[in-house]
Amino acid sequence: MKKRIVLYKRLPEALLARLQQQAEVTWVDTTGTDGLARLRDALPGAHGLLGASLRLDSSLLDLAPQLQVVSSVSVGVDNYDIAELTRRGVMLTNTPDVLTETTADTGFALILASARRVVELAGWVRDGHWQANLGPAHFGTDVHGKTLGIVGMGRIGEALARRGAAGFGMRVLYHSSRPKPEVDARYGARYCDLDALLREADFVCLTVPLSASTEGLIGARELALMKPEAILINIARGRVVDEPALIEALREKRIRAAGLDVFVQEPLSTASPLLQFDNVVATPHIGSATHETREAMARCAVENLLSALAGERPMNLVNEGAWKAVTGAYKA
Ligand code: DGY
Repeated sequence: MKKRIVLYKRLPEALLARLQQQAEVTWVDTTGTDGLARLRDALPGAHGLLGASLRLDSSLLDLAPQLQVVSSVSVGVDNYDIAELTRRGVMLTNTPDVLTETTADTGFALILASARRVVELAGWVRDGHWQANLGPAHFGTDVHGKTLGIVGMGRIGEALARRGAAGFGMRVLYHSSRPKPEVDARYGARYCDLDALLREADFVCLTVPLSASTEGLIGARELALMKPEAILINIARGRVVDEPALIEALREKRIRAAGLDVFVQEPLSTASPLLQFDNVVATPHIGSATHETREAMARCAVENLLSALAGERPMNLVNEGAWKAVTGAYKA
């Protein structure tokens, strides 16, 4: 008998067809006020879930006692209670690698846009203010040759380092759980502690996953350590930054600008004080949002899900403990 899958993210047609060949697929639109109720109705009997950006709490998991795998169309897994999934023997998979370069591109788009005031000045032209040659009041700051400080030297951090060093002749500093000699050798990068990075970098780029140890990592104290001409870039998760502290730092002009792709509350409310600053470039969590990359992520998520349902170890398994529980059960 075919396994049952609940899908809560749209898939390209060919991938949907592939899933439908192998399983009975129920599509659920989780948006809107009734979204969660629709998901609840679909969960009983589900063996697999595929989607993203949804907090799957115990009350939802209780509705799907046969659940074997949750396949997330994301690299970040901060939405999931991994310990709880593991306890239940439910495998969690994600989609790393395929989005690394695109997300690093987004980081650089924010670096360039905020340093060169691209969004602000494009709006200024559109509003008819370009009447004469520009003067210093509209000048930006250089990117090339500056110091790039990367917080989190995982795959995306390394892709940023490569762009900074090879493309823009930047000096690269980084802070991560441990020094990475291979990164130092490839990009002439230097590992340092977070405070030193904040004091020296012209661009502080956040790429760490959200966890108990990174939540609120950049607060008032850390922002105060940054140079007044430095720019904060966040392509990690909104909660890595203490947002009220950032708003205060921007209000008091303690840093030059911020380029933000992620926010504590998403979608960002139009009432957010962050949107009042000309020197904030705010994008709607577009880190991996290109046609090519979203398709690659969807393909990866489908493969992960189908492998898990076929009793194979999925390529991008997040919780090894669940696999051990499953294989133990198979042996029994
Ligand atoms: C991820 O994959 O975690 C991204 O933030 C979603 O675009």
